[in-house]
Amino acid sequence: MQKDLIITPQEFKRRLDSDEVRFVFDLRNEDDFKDGKIEGRYEFQTLNIPQEDFVGEEERHLSKFPKDKPIITICAHGDSSRYTAEMLREKGFDAQSLEGGIDLWTEFYETHKVADRPLIFQIYRVARGCISYIIASEGEAAIVDAVRHTNVIMDKVKELGLRVKYVFDTHLQADHISGGREIAGITGASYFIHPSDAANAAYKYNILKEGDKLPLGSSTIEIVYSPGHTPGSTSLLLDNRYLFTGDLIMKTSIGRPDLGGASEEWTRLLYDTLFERYKRLSDDTVILPTHAASIKEQVNGIVMLTLGDARRESDLYKIRDFGKFFEFVSSSLPANPERYQDIRKVNLGLLQPDEKKTKELEIGKNLCGMTKKT
Ligand SMILES: [Fe+2]
Repeated sequence: MQKDLIITPQEFKRRLDSDEVRFVFDLRNEDDFKDGKIEGRYEFQTLNIPQEDFVGEEERHLSKFPKDKPIITICAHGDSSRYTAEMLREKGFDAQSLEGGIDLWTEFYETHKVADRPLIFQIYRVARGCISYIIASEGEAAIVDAVRHTNVIMDKVKELGLRVKYVFDTHLQADHISGGREIAGITGASYFIHPSDAANAAYKYNILKEGDKLPLGSSTIEIVYSPGHTPGSTSLLLDNRYLFTGDLIMKTSIGRPDLGGASEEWTRLLYDTLFERYKRLSDDTVILPTHAASIKEQVNGIVMLTLGDARRESDLYKIRDFGKFFEFVSSSLPANPERYQDIRKVNLGLLQPDEKKTKELEIGKNLCGMTKKT
């Protein structure tokens, strides 16, 4: 029996996770391909020939496709990849097309339960490595670092019958557009961000203040100021056990301190946070980050680590001399895409792009971490 012509993003993710993807044919133009290359837990072969170079020249390229491996075709919206999969099938290849192309893939989320009491859900935007959280206790909920596709979060909130009390942005996001204020608007919850990040914001907000303890059902969220990735980066300590670090500490990276320009000053803040501000927190504190560098970081669907893991395994955590720390950071900075400045403006309420522009701003994987193993 012939396989379906189209596979859904869910099925594609399942195959990526179970080492069933062998060959991906990507029809996007070279820049889009480079910016948002599909990555998996396991290695597979990828061929990129832009659609305009492929159409009409198919016969010339056929020798580049394997006869003995399944092929997944991918394009921007899912149309040309479907025609291409059909054509390859007629030529005897085992080809299927990814539904909705990169457009749909970029909006594909997975939701996994991290803990029962308090209830924690991790909502993971697979293609970009962006993570949001729902925390709940006794029917009250807090949302951390909401993505802009707020329906993904709100559907879960409704399913669980929760009342959203707080919405937090751990920092002014530069890589993706926050859905935090929208959720606060829909639910009537209080929206929080640190004033060092939101001083120029065009909206009103509640101030994240070091040491404040906010009740949530029978749980408590303590505000732990942890600047460095940005001057206003703030962590949320839930019941003295779970630490929502934003981008300060991620599973295989530490948050870059240069996205706002002042990298030496911000590196000093980062150093102080890692070695002083987090000092009182025990090694078994569970870190729940806002970004992942790759889907390889998921274990049973969840991205998490302990503070002890970070202290033991991060190279940056071993450098106590600030000069060397700064050198290490400076040599580990990935590109700072121009669009990040626009995203910061959107998140300050100073720019309102339309849907097309919004999608363009969010192309590719997040670049919030450093490139070296940190
Ligand atoms: Fe960030």
